[in-house]
Amino acid sequence: MHDTNENLEARRSAPTGAQATSNKNQTDVALGKGLDVGTANLAAAVTNEDGSVTVNVERNAFLDINSDVYSKNMLTKLKVPYVVHNNKLVVIGEAAFELANVFGKEVRRPMADGLISPNETDALPMMRLIISKILGEPRQQGESCYFCVPAPSIDVDNNVVYHEGLFQSLIAKMGYNARSINEAHAVIFSELAEQDFTGIGLSFGGGMVNACVAYKSIPCLSFSVARGGDWIDKNVAHVLGTKKSKATFLKERGVDIRDPKNREEEAIAIYYRNLISYVLQNIKARFEGGQNMPSFQDPVDIACAGGTSLVGGFIEVFRDEFSKIDFPIPVGRIFRAEDALISVAKGCLVAAAIGE
Ligand SMILES: Nc1ncnc2c1ncn2[C@@H]1O[C@H](COP(=O)(O)OP(=O)(O)O)[C@@H](O)[C@H]1O
Ligand SMILES: [Mg+2]
Repeated sequence: MHDTNENLEARRSAPTGAQATSNKNQTDVALGKGLDVGTANLAAAVTNEDGSVTVNVERNAFLDINSDVYSKNMLTKLKVPYVVHNNKLVVIGEAAFELANVFGKEVRRPMADGLISPNETDALPMMRLIISKILGEPRQQGESCYFCVPAPSIDVDNNVVYHEGLFQSLIAKMGYNARSINEAHAVIFSELAEQDFTGIGLSFGGGMVNACVAYKSIPCLSFSVARGGDWIDKNVAHVLGTKKSKATFLKERGVDIRDPKNREEEAIAIYYRNLISYVLQNIKARFEGGQNMPSFQDPVDIACAGGTSLVGGFIEVFRDEFSKIDFPIPVGRIFRAEDALISVAKGCLVAAAIGE
């Protein structure tokens, strides 16, 4: 008997109804999938037969519980899906968050700061479970799956090569032709198709911010900073003397960082501004210091995506910080992706469709 409770439905399935822009004139749009491997969320994008795109999102988290009759009964009664791993009952994704809240426990997270967590020995098998659930099996052996990887960070010494290799092999073992794409490059693929994939893509995630400058789809500069939503939460919690989860709650509750209403919101606004300015300063410095950079004659757009860009007033504060620096490239529109949480997954799908 298989000790798995079926009915593992995706938490947030967001049919966008929109065809990935670059697929318009292709007839073989159906094959190829996109996978966003994020610290906070995993998202898989697939083109349906009618040309619409479905993105399945699941929290990158799990909770393990002792395997005894009492716990099994409890999970069954609560209708919480679980699997058995190393003699423990494991609940994955959003369900893990809900259960953790009920029992006052902390979920375990397979990734930290944009990469597979070195402190979490169960990270890979747990991520394999979540990825299988949202990505499904290849519709054809060797169907391509483009998954995102961060660029090396400028502020910490992290091992992107190891991380990329692990997921390359995990996705390949599932029967896909696994190809990696830089996370911010994926934002350019999903948001800047009309600009001929020229411009700046920024992914403000939980663990990192990734930046990419591309000219006609070719990246000429990409880097990441190991600061993102988690970094804001950690610092806010530190200066206010509260728990990190409280800071996350306050931040996601609906703060407007242009107009903080109290001491907590003030702290959130300060770290947001600092993060945005830090990213902009680094694009400027790297662009000016880089060799063989293209000269952009026409203004380029800046597209922001990722959960951290969802806070109220984000784009306005971004524009404000932008106006304070002498940016090396002429810039046109600065905007947030319409669906900021699933933009990277959609970009990976576009990359898969056009074979990059
Ligand atoms: N409405 C919101 N306002 C501010 N931050 C948010 C909001 N919703 C989610 N976030 C933050 O977005 C981050 C997760 O974004 P995501 O792009 O999924 O990250 P990752 O790429 O690291 O998986 C978390 O830090 C979360 O707190
Ligand atoms: Mg991300």
